[in-house]
Amino acid sequence: MKQMEMLSRSHTPLLSNAYINFHSRTNRFKYRPSFIVSASRTNGEGLERRITRKRRKQESIPMRVNLKAPFLEKIFNILDSAITEFLDPPLHFSVDPAKILLGNCAPVDELIPTECKVVYGTIPSCLSGVYLRNGPNPQFPPNGPHHYLDGDGMVHCIRISHGRATFCSRYVKTNKYVFENQVGSHAVPNVIGGMHGLGPFIARATLFAARVLFSGFDIGKGIGVANTSLALLGGKLYALCESDIPYAIKIKDDGDIITLGHHDFNGSLSMNMTAHPKIDPTTKEAFAFRYWTTRPYLTYFRFDAEGNKQPDVPINSMKHSSLTHDLAITQKYAIICDIQVRACPMNLVRGEPLVGVDPNKVPRIGVLPRYAADESNMKWFEVPGFNIFHAVNAWDETDEEGGEVVVLVAPNIVSVEHFFERAVGQIHGSMEKVRVHLGTGVVSRHIMSTKNLEFPVINPAYIGKKNKYVYAAIFSDQTPSETRMMRASGVVKLDVTTSEEEHEGLNECTMASRMYEDNCFGGEPFFIERDPENPCSEEDDGYVVSYVHDESSGESRFLVMDARSPTLEVVAAVKLPQRVPYGLHGIFIRENDLYNL
Ligand SMILES: [Fe+2]
Repeated sequence: MKQMEMLSRSHTPLLSNAYINFHSRTNRFKYRPSFIVSASRTNGEGLERRITRKRRKQESIPMRVNLKAPFLEKIFNILDSAITEFLDPPLHFSVDPAKILLGNCAPVDELIPTECKVVYGTIPSCLSGVYLRNGPNPQFPPNGPHHYLDGDGMVHCIRISHGRATFCSRYVKTNKYVFENQVGSHAVPNVIGGMHGLGPFIARATLFAARVLFSGFDIGKGIGVANTSLALLGGKLYALCESDIPYAIKIKDDGDIITLGHHDFNGSLSMNMTAHPKIDPTTKEAFAFRYWTTRPYLTYFRFDAEGNKQPDVPINSMKHSSLTHDLAITQKYAIICDIQVRACPMNLVRGEPLVGVDPNKVPRIGVLPRYAADESNMKWFEVPGFNIFHAVNAWDETDEEGGEVVVLVAPNIVSVEHFFERAVGQIHGSMEKVRVHLGTGVVSRHIMSTKNLEFPVINPAYIGKKNKYVYAAIFSDQTPSETRMMRASGVVKLDVTTSEEEHEGLNECTMASRMYEDNCFGGEPFFIERDPENPCSEEDDGYVVSYVHDESSGESRFLVMDARSPTLEVVAAVKLPQRVPYGLHGIFIRENDLYNL
């Protein structure tokens, strides 16, 4: 009954006057897209959209490419357009830039550090530091198929000091970004959107090879977009994307972000790595992996507390490629999921997208001792229909017979075949708790919530340890399916320690939730502890923060919510000086840690 009351209260809209002002039309929206989706013109078959680049101020970056060949670049662009016109299949909406780069999915310009106004409440003093969130923000209009995840990484940073806030948005200056900035167009093929069918793939690869040859592009420095997440490895800050090695970045005293460069950890990281390394909060070690399209399909590795990468552990027991996006750790093990989504070069031969779903593959959970030097002690457990992209947390338990159990909490993507294309709105993130009995091989599963949830986070101090509370973004059926999984309607707090019996019939372990107002959407929430130095702090003693955008007024805000409140009450709102596009993952770095970056 108590839980039912919480559920009903949690959906009550915010009533404070200050928050209502958030939606005021009097807040004039300065809409500054980097592209202009131009006036569609009518032809015999209907509407035609054009995307053109808006003039922008770019920060000065070193000249590195051959600018004596603008004529060649024009030729390359004509050939690129010809590939789209004559070789590509008709653009599906999921890779049609005119359809996905609209509204608050459209990119914005860079913004220098700009002071913000706290328009509601007071920013808690424990939030001194920076909250950064990464996300795709294409520098140039794509001249062909473009998936949302193909965009160049832009980091949106709010620096908080003594209750005042400064905001800035900066591209990660990747090798791709710098090259395209110099040639003035979208020149590097899209890894996801551009891989559909063998003909277009070969044509784009050939054209890109010509560009590399004639323009001086150093492909050895990667083509990644660094758009997915941010992580501290050995106390240093990196922007990550799983198609490349990390980019080191730094926060300046004024809150500005500078890119230090592609970072291969003294030559020890030669290939890509996951964008979701897991940091042990006690040892400060980082556990990670990379996947690939050829054997070994997955390679596990870790970094010590100083950020030194340790030797690779090839996982040859992976029989097929798997688009494994995340891993979990316990105190003893690394948990790796082998899912049905995979990158298969043969798909191109069949005229299909490179990334697809293998309906004949049974998903598995792999349990590997986290300090393993090889995979000899790795165990695999089949878990039909268990396809996850993000792992919330995992921990070790013991069953009644004293046997080892690994518990994994993660949103399982139901109807995963729709994830990358076709109908993203038809997928559903179903929060599950999975118990794997290592001795008997028995796997039990329990659905913790019927809501559509993704972008889960916990108190980072509990990574690898048994924890109670999970915060996740809620995706509503009321948002258009095309952009549903980019626009979170609210945030939920779950108690994942409740047993099956405790909420049998209700099928919910929701402790609190907050639905944003009409036409307001956010993304990943992030939990920040109130007092990380206090060993007696409760797990949920802190704040949940997120960027939230009002699509009616065009205004973006940084919201601070009380994690212990049954309604996740907003305690502070900061009006941001520029729109923040919907994005991916974030991090909070405390003031003291900033000096060591
Ligand atoms: Fe992710």
